Amino acid sequence: MSTQGLPIAAIADPSAPTPTAIRSFADLNCLVVGAASGIGYATATMLSQKAGRLVGADLPAATWPNTDNQYPQLPIDISDPGSVRDAVERTIEIVGRLDVVINTAGILGKVQPSSEETLEDFERLLRVNLVGAFALSKAVLPVMAAHGFGRLVHFSSTAGKEGVPGMTGYSASKAGITGLVKALAKEYATTGVTINAIAPGKVDTPFIMSQPPKAEDLQRIPMRRLGTPEEAAALLEYIISPGASYTTGFIYDLSGGRAVY
Ligand SMILES: NC(=O)c1ccc[n+]([C@@H]2O[C@H](COP(=O)([O-])OP(=O)(O)OC[C@H]3O[C@@H](n4cnc5c(N)ncnc54)[C@H](O)[C@@H]3O)[C@@H](O)[C@H]2O)c1
Repeated sequence: MSTQGLPIAAIADPSAPTPTAIRSFADLNCLVVGAASGIGYATATMLSQKAGRLVGADLPAATWPNTDNQYPQLPIDISDPGSVRDAVERTIEIVGRLDVVINTAGILGKVQPSSEETLEDFERLLRVNLVGAFALSKAVLPVMAAHGFGRLVHFSSTAGKEGVPGMTGYSASKAGITGLVKALAKEYATTGVTINAIAPGKVDTPFIMSQPPKAEDLQRIPMRRLGTPEEAAALLEYIISPGASYTTGFIYDLSGGRAVY
């Protein structure tokens, strides 16, 4: 039957649930993983001022910046599913209803030709960057879906889109984030939970200091500068906002115009 001329309501699947009543940004209870440094830290700082309850989590050995930020800081090793479950349980005890989970945990690994990259090197990158993201997703998605609202954001990279020589395991792990996010997003599409990722190019954090950008790197960035952690936090502020309710399974660009798709 042609749908032309029918009102939109008549075309929509009658079994599709209506979106959960929109909560204000200030009501959102959030967990940021990888919060002791870089983008995670800037995001936690932004959320501590604008959102509801907040928990930051990072490796047990992480050194947190010595600031006035007042929010619980939990240990988590995202590559260990038991540690992920413990941290999520503890977070829910602290915040009650969990609305937002932002996963910025990630490692670059050693930059080296693939001929020198061992299987152990490769597996380690996948375990932290990709398997960790899956373990965290499994721990939080049913919780958020049960109350009909959620925002889960992982981090991909332009390396996952382009492939970077010397970073085979890293590039593969970040490409995997794209598939993970798109598959999960479709699975949870009717629950009120959106699942997206951000793909940064080069953001000025400790992460890139093992490979400090050279002049030719900047030439590849149309804006001719690095991004800032605060610009990443600003994009996250939009993605997790209650009004950003019709975009899921998307990889948001944060590359100063470098990425072509
Ligand atoms: N900075 C960039 O230019 C850039 C570019 C592309 C992608 N990314 C991605 O963005 C995300 C955030 O990067 P960043 O620049 O803020 O890095 P960062 O190194 O400043 O912060 C990453 C945090 O993750 C934590 N972490 C590492 N392994 C962990 C584990 N097993 N369990 C829990 N936490 C762990 C670290 O302790 C650190 O605090 C990462 O996923 C990274 O791959 C960053």
